[in-house]
Amino acid sequence: MSIEPRKILVTCALPYANGPIHIGHMLEHIQADIWVRYQRMRGHEVWFISSDDAHGTAVMLRAKDLGISEKQLIRKTQKEHKIDFMNFNISYDNYHTTHSTENLFLLRKIFYCLNNKKLLNKKTIIQLYDNKEKIFLPDRFIKGTCPVCYSENQYGDVCEVCSAIYDPVDLINSVSVISNTAPILKNTEHLYFNLPVFTDMLNKWIHSGVLDESIIKKTEEWLKLGLKTWCISRDYPYFGFKIPNFYNKYFYVWLDAPIGYISAFKNLCLKNKNLNFNDFWNEKSKYELYHFIGKDIIYFHTLFWPSILEASSFRKPNGIFAHGHLTINGLKLSKSKGLLIKASDWLKCFDSDSLRYYYASKLTNNINDIEMNLDDFVYKVNSDIVNKLVNLASRSASFINKYFNGYLSDKLDDFSLYEVFINSNKEIESFFENRKFSSIVKISMKLLDLANQYINDNKPWKIQTKIQKNNRLHVICTMGINLFRIIMIYLKPIIPVLSEKTESFLMSSLVWNEIKKPLLSKKIKNFPRLYERISSDKILQLFTLSK
Ligand code: MSP
Ligand code: ZN
Repeated sequence: MSIEPRKILVTCALPYANGPIHIGHMLEHIQADIWVRYQRMRGHEVWFISSDDAHGTAVMLRAKDLGISEKQLIRKTQKEHKIDFMNFNISYDNYHTTHSTENLFLLRKIFYCLNNKKLLNKKTIIQLYDNKEKIFLPDRFIKGTCPVCYSENQYGDVCEVCSAIYDPVDLINSVSVISNTAPILKNTEHLYFNLPVFTDMLNKWIHSGVLDESIIKKTEEWLKLGLKTWCISRDYPYFGFKIPNFYNKYFYVWLDAPIGYISAFKNLCLKNKNLNFNDFWNEKSKYELYHFIGKDIIYFHTLFWPSILEASSFRKPNGIFAHGHLTINGLKLSKSKGLLIKASDWLKCFDSDSLRYYYASKLTNNINDIEMNLDDFVYKVNSDIVNKLVNLASRSASFINKYFNGYLSDKLDDFSLYEVFINSNKEIESFFENRKFSSIVKISMKLLDLANQYINDNKPWKIQTKIQKNNRLHVICTMGINLFRIIMIYLKPIIPVLSEKTESFLMSSLVWNEIKKPLLSKKIKNFPRLYERISSDKILQLFTLSK
């Protein structure tokens, strides 16, 4: 039975171009990549894209700090980000930037749509202004005392102690983070998108099967509070795209960032002539679109983004897949408040598959935070990958190589055990589809325990001391190799490096639809070093690098 291949476009949230990729970002890219690799293994056509989010005040100030232009900064950062993703085997088809001609073109097109539909209105408001640096202050560049609970040192938009959300002008004793001076109040005119007119559409859309339960709940809460118009402009100085016919005003980074999803695909179409842009993005597109995001940006993706798409007659996503945040040894990933482990520093201490495996062992389809305890990480990787998985292959392969010329036997010893392994496929397929990766790791480890128990019970090492070319020894070890192969097929989307080494060792590709057919009477290579045990000594090194 063959199913019609699906055509799927998958995105990750666009990382800001003002800093390096850390292992918190990597959680999202690994989660999406596992899902993408699985879909490709099932024969579906998947296009996987992302991009740097190049605009905004943070990028502008970072460039200023470094004494370089914004363009120099975003070029350098994009290069570094691309290398980080490649080193973790994130299989992007395109990794673009929002500071691109495609993005400018699409932004303008969408802007004219919104304008023509009279969805934009100008309004004069009062904002905090840094009179020393001559700049209007974004929420995150203002600190002060919370007007609700009086906690000091809170941001301009939200109190991290009592979770109150407020207007920056209500913050007590506010200070500009940029100049450390007290800001003044100043009038300024801005452009607002009429979000409330999309309330009915959103109420329907969020219940149309596109969101998981926890995200529906959150979005419903916001909808109940009532939507407000959304400010999509920013004052000079700003790094971004200028608004036509609106002097010294720029588009807010959060308008052109999600448009970056469309433009990254448009850019891919330039490189791949077989791809048709409209097939994927027209209002009635039959192809699927999924966005992987973190829980902190749900608001933008379940309220603003579908409304912008609706307003400009583009298709809407089929799913918004949100994950929780990573904490390490209980700490946040932050330079100031915790520990910031860069993706590049990680690779100086550990390999990429180990992180991918550990994340998979923790990931599900809800938005609970994910805690990574580094001792537990080292323990789990060694006990699962080395002691259970690689060990199963190693203890079987040595005899095959030594006594049987590297050839597998022509039959399996215990077909019913083999069937237990292959019959787990339906459950595993549904766990992959629904992003319940931790359940896949659990099942695989349970199966590996069975396989290793089988080897323990049959004691091949005892047989070989008596008769060397023993048929029994041959079928037992062939069985071990075949059980190892099934688990490697299941884990292939999660651990691509180990999978590639396995394919070379077995001289055979790990293919999902071939699990029913065991490897028999076939030559395999000498057992290679498939995976090196990792050392807890490296944890200290990682901490030192991340200080
Ligand atoms: N530029 C915006 C996204 C625009 S999408 C149209 C942004 N960038 S970000 O660099 O701050 O974050 C990018 C993604 O990484 C977000 O989905 C965010 O949730 C995720 N993560 C950032 N820190 C994280 C953790 N500590 N843990 C897990 N994901 C984290 O937001
Ligand atoms: Zn407070």
